[in-house]
Amino acid sequence: MSVKPYELTDAGGATCQGMITVDGYPVPNFMEDGIVRGKTILSIREWKIRDDDIVVKSLPKSGNRWVDEILNMLLSRKTEMEAGRKFALIEQTTEKNFESTPSPRVISTHLPLRYLPKQLEQKKTKMVLVLRNPKDCAVSYYHVMTGMRVFNYSGKFENFLKLYIDGKLPFGDMFSYIREFEEKMNSESDKICLVMYEDLKMNGVQEIQRLARFLGVDATEEFCKTVHDACSFRNFAEKREFTTPVNEMVWKEGGCFYRKGIIGDWKNHFTVADSEMFDEVLAQRMTGSKLKFTYSAPE
Ligand code: A3P
Repeated sequence: MSVKPYELTDAGGATCQGMITVDGYPVPNFMEDGIVRGKTILSIREWKIRDDDIVVKSLPKSGNRWVDEILNMLLSRKTEMEAGRKFALIEQTTEKNFESTPSPRVISTHLPLRYLPKQLEQKKTKMVLVLRNPKDCAVSYYHVMTGMRVFNYSGKFENFLKLYIDGKLPFGDMFSYIREFEEKMNSESDKICLVMYEDLKMNGVQEIQRLARFLGVDATEEFCKTVHDACSFRNFAEKREFTTPVNEMVWKEGGCFYRKGIIGDWKNHFTVADSEMFDEVLAQRMTGSKLKFTYSAPE
């Protein structure tokens, strides 16, 4: 096992700190105790999973917290934010906290499958995979990396984009993450539900109804509408920000998780050349993939 401090320098010379690598895999140094955290991440393989756990897997900035909250509301049948939550991401918590969280647990993570509990392979645990078009993910991620104190990063977007494409940022290579999961989805389709950020944005109530069916939860259309409204971007921005200690600790002034919540903000950041280059890399790295991303909202 190797856990090491990790620092990046982009093509413009700007440095990015506050990270560690765990066996070469980059993660944020969430708790200012990188070595301990790195060991915890490696121990997650052995943590105990329950059949009624729901795992929400996503790449950073795909709308993880949004889906996590919707699932919590569907399962708890309450439409208050953060109902019953004990941790945000499995990689941010401890085994003790994880164990003492009552069922049904919604377990969010950005980790690839190889770091997740082994027991997932034997249990009936369902998984929800949240994906968002990778150009908007990149823009949202840029605001996190430049907005959080911990990274101390002030590079230009064009240089950040290169790091993003090369898989150098926390949680690594997005292409292999998606490919790995797509393969799993093909072999275990009954245990996995794919949610696209853009579908949730455009057809929220129907998507929430689909999630309820996947969970086996008896939820009326009216209840799904209530969940939809309770989880609106505005509600999130007003109520959910600064509810976890990690937020207060790491944001620079003006930074936050709930920034714009729209489809297509990438058009305000990518140049035409950036976009063409990105499309090319995506086409190469996703050869054979059946996934289709939505880059613009309908007029
Ligand atoms: P932006 O930075 O583009 O605004 P994650 O939870 O995976 O970190 O994702 C965060 C992104 O999802 C942010 O994107 C955030 O604004 C967006 N988001 C969170 N809740 C949302 C909601 N209820 N509706 C739309 N977008 C939401």
